[in-house]
This record gives sequence, structure tokens and C-alpha cells, in this order.
Amino acid sequence: MKKLFVYLKGSRLQCVLAPMFKMFEAILELFVPLVVASIIDKGIGNSDENYIIKMCAVLILLGAVGLAFSITAQYFSAKASTAFTKRLRHALFSHIGRLSHENLDKTGTSTLITRMTSDMDSVQNGLNLTLRLLLRSPFVVIGAMIMAFTVDAKSAITFVVVIPALSVVVFGIMFFCIPLYKKVRNALDKVLCTARESLTGARVIRAFCKEDEQIEEFKERNDALTAIQEYAGRISALMNPLTCVIINIGIAVLIYVGAIRVETGIITQGAVVALYNYMSQILVELVKFANLIISITKSVACAGRISSVLDLETEDGNKGNSHIDENSENIVEFKNVSFAYSGSGENSLENISFSVKKGETVGIIGSTGSGKTTLINLIPAYYKATSGQVLVGGSDVNDIPLEELREKIAVVPQKSVLFKGTVRSNMLWGNPEATDDEINFALSLAQASDFIAEKRGLDTPVEQGGRNFSGGQRQRLAVARALIKKADILILDDSSSALDYATDAAMRRAIAENQGNKAVFIVSQRTSSIMHADKIIVLDDGIASVGTHKELLENNAVYREIHLSQFDGEESA
Ligand SMILES: Nc1ncnc2c1ncn2[C@@H]1O[C@H](COP(=O)(O)OP(=O)(O)OP(=O)(O)O)[C@@H](O)[C@H]1O
Ligand SMILES: [Mg+2]
Repeated sequence: MKKLFVYLKGSRLQCVLAPMFKMFEAILELFVPLVVASIIDKGIGNSDENYIIKMCAVLILLGAVGLAFSITAQYFSAKASTAFTKRLRHALFSHIGRLSHENLDKTGTSTLITRMTSDMDSVQNGLNLTLRLLLRSPFVVIGAMIMAFTVDAKSAITFVVVIPALSVVVFGIMFFCIPLYKKVRNALDKVLCTARESLTGARVIRAFCKEDEQIEEFKERNDALTAIQEYAGRISALMNPLTCVIINIGIAVLIYVGAIRVETGIITQGAVVALYNYMSQILVELVKFANLIISITKSVACAGRISSVLDLETEDGNKGNSHIDENSENIVEFKNVSFAYSGSGENSLENISFSVKKGETVGIIGSTGSGKTTLINLIPAYYKATSGQVLVGGSDVNDIPLEELREKIAVVPQKSVLFKGTVRSNMLWGNPEATDDEINFALSLAQASDFIAEKRGLDTPVEQGGRNFSGGQRQRLAVARALIKKADILILDDSSSALDYATDAAMRRAIAENQGNKAVFIVSQRTSSIMHADKIIVLDDGIASVGTHKELLENNAVYREIHLSQFDGEESA
């Protein structure tokens, strides 16, 4: 938590000026009751019209200068708090961008988005309020009490009783409400979770006719939220009547004592009015202070959550001094690699060894959940092997600077991800310098030319996540983007799962014809996609068998079974 304070650097001056101007404003405010008192005593008492006008002008001046101070304070606090959250948001965004895959898995996207948005807003608000009010409110309460004592010490004794009584009510209600507000927040999270699921899964919900259940669940969660909000609302609504009762009793006592003292000539009528005004000021500030503490509590909780994301481990970008040796015998080598996801007891990969030379094609096959994606994720060091070594260009991937390693690898992930922009802008991710001809060539290899030509060519817009393309079209665009990268290692993770057999075969043929020195990893559920590979890795619950199509057909029951189950129904490419 404390380390968030470094993001205040650069706004230190504003952080001093904002409360300072707010204090100036408060000091002026404390003089207002005295001026009013003198208008009553001297102006009205002596029917001195000039004096009244003069003092009214003083009141207006006090108000105007106070307003200027207040606006200045607001300016500085807004500047400091927005600059602070800008820096913090930037730091959080770049930290999230570098989070290790384990931590990304653990934290989840929606949590991270909440940290970046609503938590960040709450911290900004909290800081803004703190800068303006944290010092001001106690200052006015204490200041008003001291002023009351200077006006008339005996009458001011009422304050000594009223202020603690008011504090008990205000802070008692506040402390009671803080845990309630936490419950409100949790209930709100649940409502939002149902809403989000309903929106993202609308089609599935309709397909399974689960609308009524979804509505029912939403209603339950919404009712729970309303109930807790109403309860919190009722308790906090007690604040006003209770404080009014106390303050009115205080005022009655004040006026009573004051009246007797006015009668005996000890104090003036104006002094009683001043005391009354100080009492009101104290009430207003105590209520403000209580609300401030509630806001600060919320903000501190949000800041804690942001800080916990910043504490998560990131990928180590500059790992070691090893480099990829272009001339090493094997471009990729696994040596007795085992891997278990953190938090999961069992290994997803078990003692895997194989090597791949430049220009070779490796097929990876196995049933769902057998560890195919896990295996290829170790090559770009998305995850670290639990034991054993993964080597690229003769060096351990954990010792190669990440940028150097990933420059050599082009990955088409199992779930194709495109970004908002155009087809061209997405393709340039692979190589920012690629010409239109190069892009068109890659698109033609990925069998994507036809459907792109039917739209607006390279200028075809791409919506967020590529939702204006079909699953198979997205896959082909993702393949083209990877081909443009011209990396030494190309990894296709089930990248033709949504393609028909003919297109899949055409794409593989085109990639093979232009493979050159590249090592290509093809993950697939179909034997037809990988049977011509130089090497095939069959995964069965994390255990690998390596061989060629022919060898595996003879020696490997799992491979034979997969192949035979598909052979009849498929064109063998
Ligand atoms: N991020 C993760 N955290 C924990 N366990 C995981 C994670 N990803 C995968 N697993 C587990 O590891 C095992 C292998 O998963 P993997 O994604 O590698 O399978 P796969 O062979 O690619 O399957 P598919 O053909 O469905 O893509 C599975 O048992 C899965 O539950
Ligand atoms: Mg997979």
C-alpha cells in the first residue's frame, strides 16, 4: 500500500497547496459569525446604517475571498489526484502487460479491469477529498470551539457537552455503516457478475432456454443488494434526526444561558447569535468528516486491491546472458521436461524429451486436455518448466532475454485474438514494416485472400476481438499474422480446427511449400493434419511418445486409435 505514495511524486506541491488553501478558507469562515455579531450589536443596536453596509461588504468580501481560496484548493487537489491516478493507471497497465502467465491465470480478466477502472476512480475520489477535507473539518470544529470560548467561555461550555455527543452519534453510525457498505459492494459485485454472464452468454442462455433461471438469479441478487442498501440507508438516515435533536437541545440551552447573560448585561445579543452559528458550523463539519472517513475507507480498500496487483510477479524480461545460436544443431529441444500448473497437484506434462531441427515439421496430437497447448506454451517461455530444460537455439529459454526469444517465435494461439482496427493494422503486428504485397502473400498462404477480397481488402475493418469475422476466418487471419512475422519457429495451436478439410489441407500445403528453414509445430486433433510431419508427438495425459506416422501407427495404440477413428470419414491430405 505504502508504495503507492511514490505516484504522488511530481504532485507534492499541489498536495501541500490544496489543504493550505482550504485552511485559509476555513479561517475566513470562522470570522463570519463575529462579523454578524458586530452587525447585530453595533449596527442594528445603534441603528448605524453605514456600519451595517460596511460590515455587509466585509461579509461579501469574506465570502468572495473564501470562494477563491476554495476554488484554488479544488484546482490543486483535482490536479494532484488526477495526475496521481494517471501515473498509477499507467504503472498498473504496464505491470498487467508484463504479468507472468501464472498470475494472469490466477487473477482473471474481469478482476483486472475492475482494478483499472472503478477501483482507480474510487482512489482518485478519496485522494481528492482527503486533500481538501481531512485537515479542514477537524480544524473548523476545533477552531469554532475556540472562537466560541473567546466569545463567552461560560456559554461555550455547552459546546463541550454537545460536541462529544454529536461525535458519538456521527461516528457511531459511521462505524456501523462501514461494514454494511462493504456488504453492499459485495452484493453489487454479484449483480454485476450475473449481468456480465447474461450478456456475454446470451446466445447460450437462449439455446438452453435458461432465460427464466437467469432472470430469477438476477432478481435474487438484485433483491439482496436492495435489502442491504435499504438497511444501510435506514441506519445512515438516523444521522440527521439524531444530530438535529442534539444540536437543537444544545441551541436551546445556549439561547437560554445566553438570554440570562444578555439580560444581566454580561454578553450581547450578537454574541449569542455568533455562538449559535459556531454550533451550526461544527455540526456541518462533523457530518462532512464522517462522510469523508467513509469515502477514505472505501478508497483505502480499493488502493489495497490495486497494490496487491502491483505486488504480483511479472515476467522477467531480461533474463540472462544466453543467446539463440542460429547454427546450433537443434532449434528446439526438450530435455526431460515436466510441468505442473501452480496450484494443481499433478503434472500436466511428464518427463518429455525430443528435439527439432531447422526446417522440420512437428505434429502434436492427443485428446483434449492431454497437454498439447501446455507443451507449446513452454517454448516461448510463457510458463517455466517445473523440471528439465527447454532449449531454443541451444540455450535454456529461461536464460534468453524474452524479447530475443519471442522475436524468433510466431505463435497462432488456440483461441484466435484480433484487435480493433483494420485487417492491415492487425497484420502489421507480425511485422510493422511489411508491405501490402507481403501481407497479401501471407493472406494467400493462410487461405484468407478470398473472403478479404470480398470485403474491403486490407482496409476491411476489424471489430473488437474480431467479432465481425467467423471463427474460421479469424483463425486464418491469425495464421497470416504469424506468417508475416518471418520467425524461425512457427507454432500453430489447433489453428485449423474451424476450417473444412480442404481449406485446412490447402493451408498446410501452402505453408509447407514456403517453410524454408522454419521449424513448424502443428497442434491438431486430426491425424490428417500432421501425418506428413517429420516428427509426431502423441500426448496421452501429459506423457509423450515421439515417432513418424508410420512408426506410431505400428507402435502406439493411442495414435492408431485416433487415426482409425478419423480415417474413414476424412480426406487424407
Ligand atoms: N491455466 C491453467 N491452469 C491450470 N491448469 C491448466 C491450465 N491450462 C490447462 N490446464 C490443465 O492442463 C492440462 C492440459 O491442458 P492443455 O490446455 O495443455 O490441453 P490441450 O491438449 O491443449 O487440450 P485441447 O485439445 O482441449 O486444447 C488439462 O488437464 C488442463 O485442465
Ligand atoms: Mg489446447
